[in-house]
Amino acid sequence: MAEHVRIEDLGSHTGQEVLLRGWLYNKRGSKKIQFLEVRDGSGIVQAIVGLRDVDEETFEAAKHLAQESSIEIQGVVNEHPKRPGEYELHTKALRLIAEPTEEYPITPKEHGVDFLMDHRHLWLRSRRQHAILRVRAEVIAAVRAYFDDNGFTLVDAPIFTPNACEGTSTLFETDYHGDTAYLSQSGQLYMEAAAAALGKVYCLGPTFRAEKSKTRRHLAEFWMVEPEVAFMDLEGDMALAEDFLVHIVARVLDRRAKELEILERDTSKLEMVKGPFPRLRYEDAITLLQSKGVDTKIGDDFGGDDETIIAESFDRPVIVTHYPAAIKAFYMKRDPEDERWALGMDVLAPEGYGEIIGGGVREESLDVLDARIRAHDLPIEAFDWYRDLRKYGSFPHAGFGLGIERTVAWICGLKHVRETIPFPRMLNRLHP
Ligand code: 4AD
Ligand code: MG
Repeated sequence: MAEHVRIEDLGSHTGQEVLLRGWLYNKRGSKKIQFLEVRDGSGIVQAIVGLRDVDEETFEAAKHLAQESSIEIQGVVNEHPKRPGEYELHTKALRLIAEPTEEYPITPKEHGVDFLMDHRHLWLRSRRQHAILRVRAEVIAAVRAYFDDNGFTLVDAPIFTPNACEGTSTLFETDYHGDTAYLSQSGQLYMEAAAAALGKVYCLGPTFRAEKSKTRRHLAEFWMVEPEVAFMDLEGDMALAEDFLVHIVARVLDRRAKELEILERDTSKLEMVKGPFPRLRYEDAITLLQSKGVDTKIGDDFGGDDETIIAESFDRPVIVTHYPAAIKAFYMKRDPEDERWALGMDVLAPEGYGEIIGGGVREESLDVLDARIRAHDLPIEAFDWYRDLRKYGSFPHAGFGLGIERTVAWICGLKHVRETIPFPRMLNRLHP
């Protein structure tokens, strides 16, 4: 029997007879010849079934093959006559493994996004979704490689947590053996503990926000990578975020060019993602917005539109620093030179993708931290362990969180984050 080969490896088997296993993606043909588009997860290839090359039974089977039938094809690999570097299969034998019991609901015609989202488990089988999932996997691989190669230790943060990290209004609450637990909004507080143990650490995992936001940038469950570094200041935090982002984009451009082409991404915009990124204080960002006729004032948080307008003034990601302390989380250190501002930074992606990174310097004084916990109306008991980090060798430290889905949406050039995660969880969606 011929060797089983994956579609992506067909190139090294030209002239040979191989075995392919996969699903029928699409089909066209005539009385004498059938062209089967077959996918196996590693790619899509055209299998040609000629009336004269197979027995009549096989030809009839090919002719009546339904979309998404699982099949096994034996055939000879040839380079595509017109497209060098592409291959096709000249079928000798075809075996139907399983015929769909019902007509496949996703046809090559256009479907509405709600319909597709309801069929997300099947929608993943389509060419665009393959490309997006591969870019996502590459982004995550790039994230891991960057930190692993730069002296960071991966430290996994818990998902059940006893306290809020990013404000109490967006907590998912759950019963925990009679106590209340919350699904983690961020691993940061745990990374601060880990940074005191290991110096340079990061976590990567799912995080949860119960906000009732129905925007193209919000998910209820999203993946975040969060580095935290002992003795790092705001300058160091910005330099790390910049170098990290440049590395991710460069790796995806290098290794996922084919996927970006399928997504029709204008990669010239991504080629611009080189350091140094422009840095802008919040106050100057407000001035910039006002100069464009926006009525956002000092003290306001930026909405998605504000972020888009700020980012439009630059050809690469922009770092905004020194936000008003009043709109930032309890743990953020204030600027000792002017307490109105927090030593925080956000990185805004170009082309309207908004904030992809948020982070900054953490408050290291126990007294100040306690005052902030109270001012934010947070239960001080829940933070006893976090306060300990300020008791035993308190240390300046900083870090940030990068949202994987917003980053993938930007790199792929997708309007909405919902397609960047295999099974999105949103305000109105828990299915499939
Ligand atoms: O700005 P955020 O809320 O920061 C934190 O959680 C910090 N504790 C991180 C840290 O310093 N370790 O979130 C960080 C990033 C955002 O910039 C955005 O990319 C993403 O997480 N994000 C979301 N992505 C999708 N849906 C949501 N609802 C998101 N909320 C935040
Ligand atoms: Mg933020």
